[in-house]
Amino acid sequence: MSLLKHIDLNSLGDERGQLTILEAQKNIPFSVKRVYYLTNMKHDVPRGFHAHKELEQVAVCVAGKCRMLLDNGQAKEDVWLDAPNKAIRIEPMVWHEMHDFSENCVLLVLASEHYDESDYIRNYSDFIEMV
Ligand code: TYD
Repeated sequence: MSLLKHIDLNSLGDERGQLTILEAQKNIPFSVKRVYYLTNMKHDVPRGFHAHKELEQVAVCVAGKCRMLLDNGQAKEDVWLDAPNKAIRIEPMVWHEMHDFSENCVLLVLASEHYDESDYIRNYSDFIEMV
């Protein structure tokens, strides 16, 4: 099974602009408990570098782009999040890193749980041991 799980979000576009829809338990495969977004990132300062034990997330660049690296301990794949209707699932026990942010990047993330630091695995060797 592929590590990359794209979600093509429903997008309604016309001359007034593009409207993109995310609906819990419809195109988003969980009940959303938390939404956060990243802004003002620096091109050469990557972020992420962790996995979650249980948390399910969906990420989409609503503006600009970045490169998301996913790693399940056996394979690594990267994908450009470069369109507001192109989302990716970040499943539990998948190490992820975000690189090469464009200047205007806004990275929106939907999460299945409230913030819980104890759900993070922040050390790569711990992650490899656990998977
Ligand atoms: P972190 O998830 O490590 O950021 P990134 O993976 O983008 O580099 O979060 C950065 C800091 O913010 C960290 O101290 C945890 C805190 N944080 C919260 O308090 N609540 C949240 O919902 C998130 C995502 C992070």
